[in-house]
Amino acid sequence: MKIEKQLSPPEELKQKPTDVLKVPFGTVFTDHMFSMQYSSGTWHDAKIHRYAPLSLSPAALCLHYGQGIFEGMKAYRRGERILLFRPAKNFERLNQSAHRMVMPNIDVDFALDVLMELLRVEHSWVPDVAGSSLYIRPTMIGTQAKLGVKPSDEYLFYIILSPVGPYFKEGFSPVHIYLSTEHVRAVRGGVGVAKTMGNYAASLFAGTKASEVGYSQVLWLDALERKYLEEVGTMNIFVKFDDELVTPPLSGTILAGITRDSVLTLTKDMGLKVNERQVSIDEVIEGIASGKVVEMFGCGTAAIIAPVGSLWYNDKPYTVSNGKTGKLTQHIFDELTGIQSGEREDRYGWIVEVD
Ligand SMILES: Cc1ncc(COP(=O)(O)O)c(C=O)c1O
Repeated sequence: MKIEKQLSPPEELKQKPTDVLKVPFGTVFTDHMFSMQYSSGTWHDAKIHRYAPLSLSPAALCLHYGQGIFEGMKAYRRGERILLFRPAKNFERLNQSAHRMVMPNIDVDFALDVLMELLRVEHSWVPDVAGSSLYIRPTMIGTQAKLGVKPSDEYLFYIILSPVGPYFKEGFSPVHIYLSTEHVRAVRGGVGVAKTMGNYAASLFAGTKASEVGYSQVLWLDALERKYLEEVGTMNIFVKFDDELVTPPLSGTILAGITRDSVLTLTKDMGLKVNERQVSIDEVIEGIASGKVVEMFGCGTAAIIAPVGSLWYNDKPYTVSNGKTGKLTQHIFDELTGIQSGEREDRYGWIVEVD
């Protein structure tokens, strides 16, 4: 499919932020976006055009029944080079989410071509300050105007871009994580495995509880027994017990994080003992008391690696790693951000360059 371009004239381009590190995450958008429509069983009208509000029927199915999915990825600048980190994985995951939400697939190679073209157009928006990047948000929504619960016959797929600094205002410093014992994020057989909008709406209530005690993210426990760690708001979770690094398995209720997969590869290659197994909250709390829990961190595209400095559980705070960033956490952060920014050797072929 041909990608049509309707670019803004130079005099209408936006002013770029003078200090991207000071811009709150995800609040500034570039001049252009990509969009394409789906109807009668095919994608069509692929175009790069001015970033602009969408025109949707108030009866669009996505607005009422939540048929919407998205992805999050980043482009990094190294001089004149623009680098992407495992971008095909995001479009493959978008298709998995689409399957679960009864939405059409997109062709992964076409989506990559589109993204490359959009990044060529918006090249100058990829910031060059350490710790910054251009956040990429591919999104798909059901747009058919109909009141009634059914899969939409029409869809919109679009990609918007946002120059960003660190996800947490603390930057790469230990974050405070609130354990939700009252609410759950996802149940087995539900949609926790998909990157779909309702999962994030469902997390907001516990998020407000976390903010009330000054904590920034929610750590979810499994819905059935309220016992095993699942994942954090926008991150997967790792715990280091003595010499064993552990992360919960992909049991169908958590997102299969691309950063999680990359951390597993890096740490296994380092010769660490790494296990994907269930971790109970009791094991963590006892491990913090006995000193067996030496480090804990979250990982995801937005924050990359976030050391956990404390946990709030059953109305009590528990300090992890003396509230500091652990050695392994720091090492993984350096290695991953080094590969992503092109400063360290890409031994795994994870980097795709915009040509
Ligand atoms: C719920 C959830 N878990 C985990 C992750 C981490 O996934 P990734 O490393 O692919 O960004 C994200 C972010 O996309 C997320 O929203």
